[in-house]
Amino acid sequence: MEGMNDAWINQAWEDVVNKMNRTSDRIGASFPHASFNGTYDSPELDWWTNGFWPGLLWIIYREERNEKLKRYAIECEEKLDEALHQFVGLHHDVGFMWQPSAVMNYKLHGHERSKTRGLIAANMLAGRFNSVGNYIRSWDLEGSEGWSIIDTLMNLNILYWASNETGDPRYKQIAEKHANTALEHFVRDDGSAYHIVNFDPYTGKRKNTLGGQGYAPESSWARGCAWAVYGMALSYMHTGDERYLDSAKKSAHYFLFHTNEDFIPNWDFQAPLEEAQVLDTTAASCTACGLLEIARYVDSIEAKRYRNTAANILRSLYENYGAWDEEEEGLIKMGTANKPKDFGVNVPIIYGDYFFVEGLLRLKGRTDFCW
Ligand code: GLY
Repeated sequence: MEGMNDAWINQAWEDVVNKMNRTSDRIGASFPHASFNGTYDSPELDWWTNGFWPGLLWIIYREERNEKLKRYAIECEEKLDEALHQFVGLHHDVGFMWQPSAVMNYKLHGHERSKTRGLIAANMLAGRFNSVGNYIRSWDLEGSEGWSIIDTLMNLNILYWASNETGDPRYKQIAEKHANTALEHFVRDDGSAYHIVNFDPYTGKRKNTLGGQGYAPESSWARGCAWAVYGMALSYMHTGDERYLDSAKKSAHYFLFHTNEDFIPNWDFQAPLEEAQVLDTTAASCTACGLLEIARYVDSIEAKRYRNTAANILRSLYENYGAWDEEEEGLIKMGTANKPKDFGVNVPIIYGDYFFVEGLLRLKGRTDFCW
């Protein structure tokens, strides 16, 4: 990387690999989510984050060829079959669950069984599409037929992948229709994003917005903004539609303008001062990956700015929030899962770890991930 002092990147990578060699024996083929007092919890099998640990194992295995990590990743993928077959339709996060696990395995090894898992997940997601409102329904909670959320942008990748694999354009068509709805109804003019938009499921008309994991409907949840940055950048990667790239940049600029001096955001950019002083490092690592994706599509001067900014974020995560000691299973401290529910506040969270490592690999020149 021209002009960049990147010694820290190699050191960070070494620390990650050493730590994963130790923690993988403790965690094994389970599904860590948030770490409390140094130990990762293990949620239900259908929990939306269950693809990130196998994803982390795969992207480290790919560089290091550590067979132990591969074994755990395969075991996780097999365990997830119970969730794949037990629940009808599951939820919109099937992309997050099966793309870093099964699809990544398929990309690495070409196993048909892994491809089938990815395609089943894509079909589940496609089945959640509301063709009048052009949105993907998020969850199956009672009364949530019209709910759709900004996070779904990241799950669209499994639809793009499914169209590439099968040659059937329907998956991609659904992804684009949802992304267009997100452009119109989720991303605000200033680049911030609503978390939940509620549509009338019969007419498709937008009814109202809900606060979700942000402070309030009209506030600005930092991770929602991160999903908008990276999700739109990836939709651009899959479609070449400039509107998605412009939207990703707009959200990126909003995010960066509102972070703290060390490049890490508070959990909600518009929460009142007394509520705002809670950090979310997961939003930072996800946004860094989005910036590095954007950097691939802009001219060299702009690309350098996006890359340097992403490097600043990742370096701050490494130096100020990295947990390189024996006491903590997570890699990056101070993530916030759900502040309104007071769950997982300022703790390591598995997707924060995953995107931090993906970001490091992007800085090292990799561009081929599960998305
Ligand atoms: N997808 C839910 C979250 O970002 O917490």
